[in-house]
Amino acid sequence: MGVQSSITVISVLLILFTSTAKAQSGVFDVVAKYGAKADEKTDLSQPLLDAWKEACASTTPTKIVIPKGTYLLSKATLQGPCKGPIELQVQGTVKAPADPNAFKDPNWVVFSNVEQFTMSGGGVFDGQGAAAWGKNDCSKNKYCAALPINLRFNFVNNAMIQDITTKDSKQFHVNVLGCKNITFQHFTVSAPENSLNTDGIHIGRSDGVNVINTDIKTGDDCVSIGDGSKNVVVQGVTCGPGHGISIGSLGKFQGEEPVSGIKVSKCTISNTMNGVRIKSWPASYPGSASDMHFEDITMNNVGNPILIDQEYCPWNQCNLKLPSRIKLSNISFKNIRGTSSTQQAVKLICSSGLPCEGLELADIDLTYKGPEGPATSQCSNVSPKLTGKQNPPACSGPAQKSQLSRSLISRK
Ligand SMILES: *[C@@H]1O[C@H](CO)[C@@H](O)[C@H](O)[C@H]1NC(C)=O
Ligand SMILES: *[C@@H]1O[C@H](CO)[C@@H](O)[C@H](O)[C@H]1NC(C)=O
Repeated sequence: MGVQSSITVISVLLILFTSTAKAQSGVFDVVAKYGAKADEKTDLSQPLLDAWKEACASTTPTKIVIPKGTYLLSKATLQGPCKGPIELQVQGTVKAPADPNAFKDPNWVVFSNVEQFTMSGGGVFDGQGAAAWGKNDCSKNKYCAALPINLRFNFVNNAMIQDITTKDSKQFHVNVLGCKNITFQHFTVSAPENSLNTDGIHIGRSDGVNVINTDIKTGDDCVSIGDGSKNVVVQGVTCGPGHGISIGSLGKFQGEEPVSGIKVSKCTISNTMNGVRIKSWPASYPGSASDMHFEDITMNNVGNPILIDQEYCPWNQCNLKLPSRIKLSNISFKNIRGTSSTQQAVKLICSSGLPCEGLELADIDLTYKGPEGPATSQCSNVSPKLTGKQNPPACSGPAQKSQLSRSLISRK
């Protein structure tokens, strides 16, 4: 073969090779292939569902791309099971309709029954919630619960969600339900302090959820961990404004599953209503929560930095005469430091019916500056094991006068 013809053969081979590589790489661009328009008025829903349908049918790994630009998305449920791994790369900003009446159910973007799923790309899901928060009062009716959640992960396994922002959701930003092994990392939640009922990431009935190096600014709990959550790691999270990092509330509904294996560490919580807390309703259904560990947490101007509240009763919508029947055990608060915005820096109010068991306080250093005097620590129905520094002195504050009627307490 002459030099000329070998070059031709090589070029042909190269062209063949690159074109097959392209086809196999399985990139589904919603603009280039499915007619999406970044004009903020063409609905992204159908293009996205069409791309998902094709990607989901592929047995080789696929990538769906939402390129840079701003899109309107009415709603989308991206449903599995799929034949191969899927990555959704969101580079653009995807906006929800601002009008809450545009939604018939509390869903905006839902991922359901998907395995080996990745979402990345630096993009934003903007729930445009401002009109919804102003409209009503969550305490008085169920309006809040009917509002759409920005991102739902229902029964999603082995998933990685990274470099994604959820902004101004009308209700919770993220709801994780029935998932196994799902990680949020370099994730961002952004909403103003006055946004009602906008929990950052709510986790329930899931095993193996990691929230890592994530920044959460919102109007309700930064992370809330509900019943049936197991093996949850919250690490390197900055929280605030918001209501802190919470386990619970537990015991409000019949048939709740136990909570166990929760580790919250290396977090910074700033200007929030609470710090780290566990809450359960009085007069509750029975249940349990155990192995919950909070370690290396910095508090900056935080209300109730360390809080167990088994008489959780917002808006007085419960019967405070009966104790909580949620058993709390094997709990530790270690190396928790910084400033409190309330005098009661440590408040451990366990159930009078089922005292807390196996609670440890180690290296606590929380200060309060206010006219009433230094920070206090209050304990009910718990005798914590103490290690290292205790500022405020553990359980030195006035014991809480229980609101529960004495005669009912001794029942177990
Ligand atoms: C958990 O999910 C990640 C993807 O985020 C995957 O790489 C890893 O292998 C999964 N772990 C297990 C034990 O399946
Ligand atoms: C308490 O929690 C730790 C850490 O999760 C665990 O290793 C230990 O077994 C638990 N202890 C009991 C008595 O449950």
